[in-house]
Amino acid sequence: MKILVTGGLGFIGSHTVVELQNEGFEVVIIDNLSNSTEEVLDGIVAITGKKPIFEKLDLREKNAVQDFFKKYQDMSGVIHFAASKAVGESVINPLLYYENNISTLVYLLQELQQKPEASFIFSSSCTVYGQAEKMPITENAPVQQPISPYGNTKKIGEEIIADTAKVTNINAILLRYFNPIGSHPTTQIGELPIGVPQNLVPFITQTGIGLRQELAVFGDDYPTADGTAVRDYIHVVDLAKAHVIALQRLLDKQNLDKVETFNLGTGTGSSVLEVIHSFEKVSDKKLTYKIMGRREGDITEAYASTTKANEVLGWKAKFTLDQAMDSAWKWEQKIRS
Ligand code: WQD
Repeated sequence: MKILVTGGLGFIGSHTVVELQNEGFEVVIIDNLSNSTEEVLDGIVAITGKKPIFEKLDLREKNAVQDFFKKYQDMSGVIHFAASKAVGESVINPLLYYENNISTLVYLLQELQQKPEASFIFSSSCTVYGQAEKMPITENAPVQQPISPYGNTKKIGEEIIADTAKVTNINAILLRYFNPIGSHPTTQIGELPIGVPQNLVPFITQTGIGLRQELAVFGDDYPTADGTAVRDYIHVVDLAKAHVIALQRLLDKQNLDKVETFNLGTGTGSSVLEVIHSFEKVSDKKLTYKIMGRREGDITEAYASTTKANEVLGWKAKFTLDQAMDSAWKWEQKIRS
């Protein structure tokens, strides 16, 4: 059984390829290398000893997508990561996000709808909830108008999949990630942010290693215990494992609906200061940071209800925040050595 992983050389994609190979799947990766490098393949092989098939391809080229599915006729399981994902960039360049994140999804689904059956796992995000009313956030929490075009492409993507699954043989699972962090325990693969990191944890580890002068803490006047914003930071390996379980669910025809939705988080909220303190504990270094104003578009608090993923998927995050921060720090030290 070949499984297509789009964006399979990216941060979450590469960790998911490893877990798929560990479960005996043969993996075909599509990646356009816009936010990754081919060296990630070496890291995957170093962990599993198996080299996935890699096709450098831009999913915005419809003909290339059609040719791919002609070449790989037996491709009916797809995990779709390939997308642009920088919230701030999406505000400045919305059309890049609508073209890259929406048209590529449409071209993929147009190919899959021609198959007798297809299993489709979609990389979505808790950002579709905006600032949810109630914590922890369940899958029934209302989807709100996301603040960024990036978040809107995830909301629209979910709607496109739902409409398509209704009238085709495509079965889908939408996985709404909270905040993915960390790296593989072998430090063979990890997060490779290009330029100045937008996300908290890579900025922390780059500050810790001396690449950045200091971390700006975006606001300490939120209505939270210590005034800094709260998120649910989930280890990328926990997240990757959930993708394999979700795919297997569809392949085994265990799904109860044509489209199912799961929140993927630890169920624990951590503030920015708590993440900083976790870093200081695992690295035994003092982090230089400065309290600044709030970042435009940020929400106060988000952490997942894990009930549905636990009870239906039988999945639970295992890594703690400290373990995730330790893996992120070890990765930063490795890539800068
Ligand atoms: C986390 C917290 C910041 C940087 C986004 C997307 C989400 C997903 C993860 C893609 C916030 C604070 C951050 C910094 C800081 N992306 N922070 N200083 O915004 O929760 O989620 O990234 O899939 O879809 O929405 O993550 O890591 O940017 O921020 O104080 O230099 O850290 O204000 O409270 P976010 P983040």
